[in-house]
Amino acid sequence: MKRVAARISGTSEKSFGMYQKASAARHAGRDLVHLELGRPHADTPVPIKEATIEALRRGEVHYSDLRGLPVLRDALAAKLSQRNGIPATPDSVLVTCGLTHASFAAFMAVLDPDDEVILLEPYYPQHLGKIELAGAKAVFAPLDASDDFTLRPDLIEPHLTARTRMIVLVNPVNPTGRVYTKAELQGLADLAIRHDLLVFSDEVYEDIVYDGVTHHSIAALPGMAERTISAFAFTKSYAMDGWRLGYLHAPDWVMAGLLKITANDVTHVNTFIQYGALAAINGDREILDRLIADDKARRDLVVSRLNQMPGVRCALPHGSIYAFPDISAFGIGAQEMADRILEEAGVVVEAGTFYGASGEGHLRVCFGSEGIERISEGMDRLQSFFNALWQEGKS
Ligand SMILES: Cc1ncc(COP(=O)(O)O)c(C=O)c1O
Repeated sequence: MKRVAARISGTSEKSFGMYQKASAARHAGRDLVHLELGRPHADTPVPIKEATIEALRRGEVHYSDLRGLPVLRDALAAKLSQRNGIPATPDSVLVTCGLTHASFAAFMAVLDPDDEVILLEPYYPQHLGKIELAGAKAVFAPLDASDDFTLRPDLIEPHLTARTRMIVLVNPVNPTGRVYTKAELQGLADLAIRHDLLVFSDEVYEDIVYDGVTHHSIAALPGMAERTISAFAFTKSYAMDGWRLGYLHAPDWVMAGLLKITANDVTHVNTFIQYGALAAINGDREILDRLIADDKARRDLVVSRLNQMPGVRCALPHGSIYAFPDISAFGIGAQEMADRILEEAGVVVEAGTFYGASGEGHLRVCFGSEGIERISEGMDRLQSFFNALWQEGKS
């Protein structure tokens, strides 16, 4: 009687990495600087909250459209067409409970048992469990750290087999902060078309780009909209992580399958919060710009401080809320280094290997979730830690 489904027992345990490890120290009352969780620091902008409260007051508390409010899907289709260049219609858009739900629905809708799915390494670990729950197998395609984790078809092609069904793309990238160029995406698109593959494109950080760099959606490239499921969320852009609100764009032939999943698992997304999403998408661009400027100030601080530390080299991330410094000069494994930083410096950072073996020699430092003073404190602690470690190595 006491038996969970094989699909559960046969899949990897979901891990929260250093966040989980730090919880014992946190409960023991230790003063930790948290640079591990990718949680936005800011509060959700007031106009978004007000629109939601107003919707509640109006009585928007009942069942509504299974795909999401028509008025919201109209606005999202316009945004996808104009900003992302994806040929969207309201019926090719599905509102979801965050990007997590969008990816779950997508994998369940198109993957069969024994299908293979390429994850570009370093990969976002939370995609793995969903692929496994769908019965499919993840295959890792490591990108090259010494080539700035460039998206290169020649590093992906050797991992393709007759069973490969899909490539998962995250752009901008968690954990490296890379924003892929149009040429890199075109290379991946050519590969997908040549091998008749689907692409799942996670664009949760689409708005969080710096230095005038442009984020491109792969579905906008010729021939890609029909083979790409593109997923977005309000989570990071608008500091709405707890709202659980996202959306996806999919070709017609996938949408019926997607609806079968979402209509069965959630029926539809909570009605009144969708009015908050509408306020976000129709709102003043200035709101978004202010949040991104705030992230940029933190990024600049973190990257310049990391690069002043002996043995640490940090490339400038042009997107996301993560720096991915190279600490290989110490000859200490990334996990051991992250554990020691927690123990000895009271700073929580993630080991690069949490994102796959190709993240070895790196740490992921999130600059999005603590206030600027706490980030400075974290950098002071890391500076002392690396100074001491460097001296130790020399003596
Ligand atoms: C790459 C990536 N995809 C998806 C998510 C989850 O998004 P959501 O909270 O909208 O489900 C995150 C959150 O950290 C992420 O980094």
